[in-house]
Amino acid sequence: MSSKTKAKISAVGHYLPEYVLTNKELETMVETDDNWIRTRTGIEERRILKDPDKASAFMAAEAAREILETQNMDAKEIDAVIVATITPDYMFPATACLTQTMIGATNAFGFDLSAACSGFIYALSSGTALIESGQCKKVLVIGSDKMSSIVDFTDRATCILFGDGAAGVLLEPSDDENGVLDHVLYSSAEGAEALIQEGGGSRNPATHETVDKRMHYIKQEGRSVFKRATEGMADVSVEIMKKNNLTADDINWLVPHQANLRIIDATARRMNISTDKVMINIEKYGNTTAATIPLCLYDWKDRLNKGDNLILSAFGGGYTWGATYLKWAI
Ligand code: UT7
Repeated sequence: MSSKTKAKISAVGHYLPEYVLTNKELETMVETDDNWIRTRTGIEERRILKDPDKASAFMAAEAAREILETQNMDAKEIDAVIVATITPDYMFPATACLTQTMIGATNAFGFDLSAACSGFIYALSSGTALIESGQCKKVLVIGSDKMSSIVDFTDRATCILFGDGAAGVLLEPSDDENGVLDHVLYSSAEGAEALIQEGGGSRNPATHETVDKRMHYIKQEGRSVFKRATEGMADVSVEIMKKNNLTADDINWLVPHQANLRIIDATARRMNISTDKVMINIEKYGNTTAATIPLCLYDWKDRLNKGDNLILSAFGGGYTWGATYLKWAI
């Protein structure tokens, strides 16, 4: 066994807004139907943060508070807060700074990480490196997205997909063989045009024209993203298995990004993993972008055992994609 310091996930927390937007309600908003949404995506309902005064930092702070409570930990012990999000409260200051102050983590530094649906595994890799290097002892890694703030509720091809939510983990040094063991991460702007929010950045700052052209909403070429996501998530999951000499029997759980049930099924098939070993909660929350993977960890935490082998896997805007191999340590 390597003597290198490892990072382990020592706690999980989450926040979901109360409001449930069902497929039935979407039928009253755009020309769609419950059956189409269920069969094409696996989604039945999603959560929406209705309070206009609350956004991603609020949800991240609630998830962080749950972690601190379960650990009976003072926020002042936190060394770093990483928030993965593509729906930051503001272009700047960073959502992580807002989150850290909301929870009273006055000794921490914080930064946001923008990797869309791969945000959580990218942030987990960064947080792990902070622990492995010895720079930090306690790192909060949170995925938080208020997708309803950038969803075009007149575009039936995208508005049915996304939901709001946050979840995250506490990383600490591991004192045994369990912990975060490997990462494989990729990105490429080959799909930049296929999944994009064009307005609001330095390329297309907000003007009347960008608003009129609906450039502040998500635009997605669903079919091409679907094809690339199906290949990308399956390839990278198989790659991390091979790299770590894992067979399907060695893996206790696949924790896939929840974008479309058909993408998840294709990934599990390529890995030769049966459906009962795949975390799936897309029916309840839709695609919450950076929050999907930690929301799965939260929902499954009582079924996980110390030493379980988990593969986390994601594909998203950028494109960004990747996988993480970890041994559950709680
Ligand atoms: O998480 C980040 C990465 N994102 C993803 O992984 C999402 C990837 N894409 C997808 O999940 C799928 O492409 C969608 C769920 C977005 C769309 O499913 P699809 O099977 O690729 O459908 P499609 O875009 O090929 O559309 C099929 C038909 C079209 O009608 P025509 O042209 O065949 O007459 C659409 O207009 O379905 C129609 N359609 C709808 N019908 C009812 C599109 N959206 C809807 C809708 N309700 N909401």
